[in-house]
Amino acid sequence: MSIAGRTSNEYNADGLSGVKKNTRRRRVIFIIAIILLALLAELLRSNLYISVDEYLYMSNDLPAGFSGVKIVQISDYHNSGEGFCDRLLSKVKLESPDYIFITGDTADSICTDLKAAEGFLEKVSKIADCYLVWGNHDLALSLDDQKRLKDCCVNNGITVLENSYAVLERGSDKVLLVGTDQSMDSTQVERMFGSVPKGCKTVIWLHHYPEDFKDIVDVSEKAGIGADLVFSGHAHGGLIGIPFAEGLYAPGQGFFPEYASGRYEYGSSVMLVSRGVGNSGYTKRLFNSLHLVVCELKSGKK
Ligand SMILES: [Fe+2]
Repeated sequence: MSIAGRTSNEYNADGLSGVKKNTRRRRVIFIIAIILLALLAELLRSNLYISVDEYLYMSNDLPAGFSGVKIVQISDYHNSGEGFCDRLLSKVKLESPDYIFITGDTADSICTDLKAAEGFLEKVSKIADCYLVWGNHDLALSLDDQKRLKDCCVNNGITVLENSYAVLERGSDKVLLVGTDQSMDSTQVERMFGSVPKGCKTVIWLHHYPEDFKDIVDVSEKAGIGADLVFSGHAHGGLIGIPFAEGLYAPGQGFFPEYASGRYEYGSSVMLVSRGVGNSGYTKRLFNSLHLVVCELKSGKK
């Protein structure tokens, strides 16, 4: 028997014909496939594309000799591979930096083959003067591997700041560069700064963990030094980018972190947070590209 030219078994319980139902199913599959492809493309972009953000730091206290100085910050390299290293460093070279600050997690405590980190350190040291602090992954390596990484830095002329400082000099002008790998109280900071030479009006601070920003500013001010410009990493942009938020999750800060990427202010101090150029272990990021920070210093009114 047929109804209006169709046989009765072409109609289903919900009243849709088998043909219509198949068309709807095909549409749903098509839309899901498009969404999955878009997510895959975004996954590739987030984990391969290196975005470069430029910042300007202006201060009346900055000595004239440092005005125009360009800094490239590289954070969270995490033993990334050789091909990636060359691509990253070609971007760094394009910036012609005066200094390169490496703010922790050059190695990875899960993927512990140090050859990639060593290759990176050797090559990056040839671009500009490099200063490095350790991150949690570096410090979680075996003592032998930590020594191997430090030897690599020393052999390639990279200054490792282990709760210590260096004085950057341009002509007679000086800037104090501090590097810490743990939180410190004001007594420890005072002790560390016991022999700071006079005439360093600007203090730049390298510290892997951005969640310590306010503590660093408060403790350093209490010790009579003050941190003017802090460079940090660790948060990996909050792993998954979320509109109107600083990402989904950051170690040390938990869900919806306060500091994950970009510029932050506290009092008169500024912190720049890199989203990093690598991933920890086997984690992947989404809506959150790899990140080089470029900062130009300028003396003058903000
Ligand atoms: Fe990291």
